[in-house]
Amino acid sequence: MSLCLPLPRATLIELVSRSRCAACPSRGVFQGDLRNTDDLEKVFAARRYDAVIHFAGLKAVGESVAHPEMYYENNLIGTINLYKSMKEHGCKKLVFSSSATVYGWPEVIPCVEDSKLQAANPYGRTKLILEDMARDYHRADTEWSIVLLRYFNPIGAHSSGEIGEDPKGIPNNLLPYIQQVAVGRLPELNVYGHDYPTRDGTAIRDYIHVVDLADGHIAALKKLFDSPDIGCVAYNLGTGRGTSVLEMVAAFKKASGKEIPTKLCPRRPGDATEVYASTEKAERELAWRAQYGIEEMCRDQWNWAKKNPYGYCGGAKK
Ligand code: UD1
Repeated sequence: MSLCLPLPRATLIELVSRSRCAACPSRGVFQGDLRNTDDLEKVFAARRYDAVIHFAGLKAVGESVAHPEMYYENNLIGTINLYKSMKEHGCKKLVFSSSATVYGWPEVIPCVEDSKLQAANPYGRTKLILEDMARDYHRADTEWSIVLLRYFNPIGAHSSGEIGEDPKGIPNNLLPYIQQVAVGRLPELNVYGHDYPTRDGTAIRDYIHVVDLADGHIAALKKLFDSPDIGCVAYNLGTGRGTSVLEMVAAFKKASGKEIPTKLCPRRPGDATEVYASTEKAERELAWRAQYGIEEMCRDQWNWAKKNPYGYCGGAKK
């Protein structure tokens, strides 16, 4: 069952249990806000949970710079409330959505889990604080088992074309932007930086299919149940392969058959040159490895875009 936390926008935590939920027997969904402790009490009082997957975080870098208080309140206070409720109700297994942002501007590539961590913006700082908080919870009470999943750049959509990303307003991230250029909602893609010391001058990231990412959560949950003494441990969820902005544009063009006009622009402040994951630890300890390549990521993202050119609002222009 799921708990949707829509304020100030939709966020989600997944509550995992083997029993039925008295709070939401029909749909298995309870809508609430992690900042509201009454909502949490309603959910946790209704049934026994074995573990929680905590996705409920704001994640836009620029917005976090403009409104740090939103990020500290939503990401930090929401998570503290969640820990309190989990503890009160004896549920001490957690999978937490962290991010490759905790590597900041990585000094060593590929990023390995025990690399130096640093925050480049308030969003990143909340993830770093929440990782430290998780380690502190485990130190204080070794019954806590926590897996921190450091996402690299999730893209793509479910292959049905029914579930995909639908950003509000002008997208900040690369793939949603390319998608909107391909469907004609935006005229061209600004390529931020073409003078990086990379093979084509554009920045390199480790893009990962959202379905692979979802599978990574299943592997993490399995780990929590199979290895009760795991403690608090971080894993990268990436493919281990870097793709440049221009390579991504070419792949999307091929998948969609659409022109993607580009404009070469100065670097975006704060962007790193090259970020990609070491996947060895996740492969070794979670028995998880990304299955999809860039071609499939673009194929599925384009399938979603074709079926939902204006997102979930059914064709009405936003
Ligand atoms: C950022 C965050 C990451 C977060 C992710 C999703 C940091 C350092 N990175 O990743 O933690 O999980 O957003 O919210 O905090 N680009 C263009 N044109 C565009 C958009 C992007 O050229 O219109 C380029 C960027 O300069 C970058 C690459 O595409 O080189 C990827 O950008 P983006 O999709 O925004 O992700 P990140 O910045 O890597």
